[in-house]
Amino acid sequence: MSSFSYRRFLVVLAICATALITSSSPAQAPKISATPPMGWNSWNHFARKIDDATVRAQADAMVSSGMRDAGYVYINIDDTWEGTRDAQGVIQTNEKFPNMKALADYVHGKGLKLGIYSSPGAKTCAGFEGSLNHEEQDAQTYAAWGIDYLKYDLCSFGQVMKTAATPAAAHQMMLDAYTKMHDAIVKTGRPMVFSLCQYGNDAVWRWGPSVGGNLWRTTDDISDRYYSMSNIGFGQAGLSKYAAPGHWNDPDMLEVGNGGMKPDEYRTHMSLWAILAAPLLAGNDLSSMTPETTAMLTNKDVIAIDQDPLGKQGDRVWSEGSLEIWARDLKDGAKAVGLFNRTGAALDMTVDFASLGFKGPVHARNIWAGADVPNPGATFTTIVPGHGVVLLRVSK
Ligand code: GLA
Repeated sequence: MSSFSYRRFLVVLAICATALITSSSPAQAPKISATPPMGWNSWNHFARKIDDATVRAQADAMVSSGMRDAGYVYINIDDTWEGTRDAQGVIQTNEKFPNMKALADYVHGKGLKLGIYSSPGAKTCAGFEGSLNHEEQDAQTYAAWGIDYLKYDLCSFGQVMKTAATPAAAHQMMLDAYTKMHDAIVKTGRPMVFSLCQYGNDAVWRWGPSVGGNLWRTTDDISDRYYSMSNIGFGQAGLSKYAAPGHWNDPDMLEVGNGGMKPDEYRTHMSLWAILAAPLLAGNDLSSMTPETTAMLTNKDVIAIDQDPLGKQGDRVWSEGSLEIWARDLKDGAKAVGLFNRTGAALDMTVDFASLGFKGPVHARNIWAGADVPNPGATFTTIVPGHGVVLLRVSK
């Protein structure tokens, strides 16, 4: 090779190597919440009665119950952990959490991750210290503790927004507040899931990703009642196009196992959240679950729907009054199909497979029954319990 062509060869080699490095790095970087986050959050069951010992017990139970192995990862401390700030403005924990770093180490030692909670306002929803004007400092503190997830709850920032001259200016203030904390997290260099909580105001699904949100609450708070869960869940119709890997609609945390709903209602809760590609954040006391609750939370087929790698949220495909069919496309070409009966009494429902896009014979698994549907024809008719669901995985 002449020295000229040898030089050209080296230049081409260098260009190829650079192209390879730059094109492969982003793909190799692990994406935060590539599938909807799974874990546990303290608020629904414990509310203000949460402390270090209880969080450790939940982490223990997440492992011993099989939930960790089923895919649950985050142990999230919600509101009421906050103390005051020291002379330098550094946030301190209160007496319920003597050493957050030690707690994070404990949780990490179990192969789990730790989440925390704050507000862009001066106060959190429960009246504790918020992050207003301390965003960078707080993000640094969380990173030093080893925090992996932040739920950032608007609450008293509403007072700040009231000082805006116009609704558009108030809206911009909220966007800026979320962006500010997101930037502060990025600056720490520690990956943290960023969970927006502002109750679905201002069509958050349209701008959640632009302020760095990995998930955003689409609704007001859930409670452990069928009317609350079902109004929230079925009210998600039409939002599917806004979810994608790294960015999820969040219809709030699970109430499964908290005792206020019947098993059929909790199966509706799990099925709908899975079709919605919703975060699965258990909200019960994991240390005292019944075997039925554990089985519901760890049902492999339901979790596989929720965590499907295609990351395509499902939506309502048919309704007739209080009867609804929802469907979700899955990566392997199958579909999750939920037949939901929102009336109080058992009723027949029929699904027509051709109307879901299936041509020719299908295979259908009845997930909660744990059995295949024997010889499904062009349609499948089944009795759906009141407030209940029949959840199918349908494939060619
Ligand atoms: C708000 C949120 C809840 C919970 C409480 C804590 O109500 O929506 O999920 O975080 O605040 O105070």
